[in-house]
Amino acid sequence: MDKQEKHAANTAEDIVPTGRNGERPVIIRTLDLAKVYGEGETATHALQGVNSTIFRGELIAVMGPSGSGKTTYFNMIGALDSPTNGRILIDEVDVAQLSAVELAFLRCRKIGYIFQSFNLIRYMTALENVTVPMAFAGVKPEVARERGMDLLDLVGIADRWEHRPIEMSGGQQQRVAIARAMCNLPQILLADEPTANLDLVTGESILGILQRINKEQGVTVICSTHDHRLLKMCDRIMWIRDGRVERVERSENLKIKVGTIDGGQA
Ligand SMILES: Nc1ncnc2c1ncn2[C@@H]1O[C@H](COP(=O)(O)OP(=O)(O)OP(=O)(O)O)[C@@H](O)[C@H]1O
Ligand SMILES: [Mg+2]
Repeated sequence: MDKQEKHAANTAEDIVPTGRNGERPVIIRTLDLAKVYGEGETATHALQGVNSTIFRGELIAVMGPSGSGKTTYFNMIGALDSPTNGRILIDEVDVAQLSAVELAFLRCRKIGYIFQSFNLIRYMTALENVTVPMAFAGVKPEVARERGMDLLDLVGIADRWEHRPIEMSGGQQQRVAIARAMCNLPQILLADEPTANLDLVTGESILGILQRINKEQGVTVICSTHDHRLLKMCDRIMWIRDGRVERVERSENLKIKVGTIDGGQA
């Protein structure tokens, strides 16, 4: 079997180590997931049958060229948009079967979102940005404030709690966005190119924070990035191309060089 065939044959089950009893706790599963934008001749087949498995507690990177379907995949597994075909199971529950209230709970409590463009509220301070989703979740203001300061401390920016986004650098804004995504103690953190607008050093420190959240709090982190140099910080990497899973690999099996990546046993 040549290298290409070997990669094509990889499935998540092949390469994730088993737990003590051989179990692999799955948190998200997609089955033949498809998404078509538009219709007729102008239709875009953004996802074309994505079968993927995300394991509880892992840090997985999603890579692929621009337009390959990464954001569409994130929007589907984050229940922000619905697929044209296929199924998404979160904790083995089909998202399509959830009521509006259950979906709202999923989006507010179970999943935290970090976007490339930070999406902070401009006229609010760092602390207010972090506490807003807690207000929606019914957390008392004094509790929210305390938890908000703890989270700003976790991401290393507590001293900036009174600053508005315009008074902060891109890296600082992204830290606030991570704190906000964590405020309702999600089990899953979705980060769509959280380092794309940042220089390498800042990008590394942002991914370092995500790594800490993953390792210390057991949060499942799914992160897309274009930067090969950041892949060594992940447990697994899933490549998407033309709306399909091209390959899944554990990061220790990759030789990561600056700007390039080789498969095979490192
Ligand atoms: N709302 C939309 N309406 C129509 N087409 C869309 C929409 N969103 C995405 N697409 C198309 O679907 C395909 C996948 O887009 P997607 O944003 O998922 O790619 P991506 O991998 O995230 O790219 P990038 O790395 O540039 O962010 C692209 O061809 C894109 O033009
Ligand atoms: Mg995208």
